[in-house]
Amino acid sequence: MKLKRKDILGLQDMSTEEIRLILDTAISHKGIISRPVKKVPILKGKSVCTLFYENSTRTRTSFEYAAKIMSADTTSISVAGSAITKGESFKDTLLTLEALGVDLFVIRHAAGGASHFAAKTVKSHVINAGDGMHEHPTQGLLDMLTILENKGKIEGLKVLIVGDIMHSRVARSNLWGLSKMGAEVRLCGPSTLLPAEVEKLPVKVFENLDEAIEGVDVVNVLRIQLERMDRGFFPSNREYAELFGVNKARLLRAKSDVTIMHPGPMNRGVEITADVADADFSVITDQVTNGLAVRMALLYLLLGGGGHVASA
Ligand code: CP
Repeated sequence: MKLKRKDILGLQDMSTEEIRLILDTAISHKGIISRPVKKVPILKGKSVCTLFYENSTRTRTSFEYAAKIMSADTTSISVAGSAITKGESFKDTLLTLEALGVDLFVIRHAAGGASHFAAKTVKSHVINAGDGMHEHPTQGLLDMLTILENKGKIEGLKVLIVGDIMHSRVARSNLWGLSKMGAEVRLCGPSTLLPAEVEKLPVKVFENLDEAIEGVDVVNVLRIQLERMDRGFFPSNREYAELFGVNKARLLRAKSDVTIMHPGPMNRGVEITADVADADFSVITDQVTNGLAVRMALLYLLLGGGGHVASA
């Protein structure tokens, strides 16, 4: 089966068949990452541009590694050091880079919908690497791959997403993806950090973490996004940690084989204690590795690399 779409903009409009195809392809690509020589010629001659208007460590680096492992050419554009600082518009930046031969854009932007705009503006493929508070589909996919690896399934699991839900594109992509794949998704956070119309989402909402965590298989802890907060959403970090911080005592209420996830970057001691982040039931670094596999899979599926991965 081929992915019959030009762009990856979000998981809300993605079918379960497409999600399964991407996860299966990521699993088949994972072996390449652990080879002594991490290089296959699948995307030779293809050009990938990471265009980031916001900072990133994991997403940007893993897309660039993914492209390089598959022998694509990569260009990395940030606001600093580009003509964007001279006032060049988003549209003109896209058209300029497309004119230089970019086959696929990976875009992170502070504005929700920026990748949708890009996808309409250029004929090249577009992957949304995070648009404002809207979606971060590749994070949602890598989180599902990590759950699948650890639990052997997604359907029927209870997955708690706790923290700053309102500002979180990770929460949105996770809840759409996980609910389509048959998980029960629970959201928990201060009422000031829950999104408007949360009752319309396919989730169970909790304001008390001890109730929310009861019997869950997976806890996905979100970062408190201080950079997106223009007012006080909670009194102090100390109070937040007391009410919504994930610690070992609280985890006694979860299933005994609970898995802990965090998309990063973490505020240790605020939303998660250091002993939980570093525990053997934490898969936070596995998420990062799976990000590489998912991004390789998407580049492969969109850029139509010829040949079969196993024989590459
Ligand atoms: N999870 C995530 O998007 O991390 P980066 O901001 O480092 O890309």
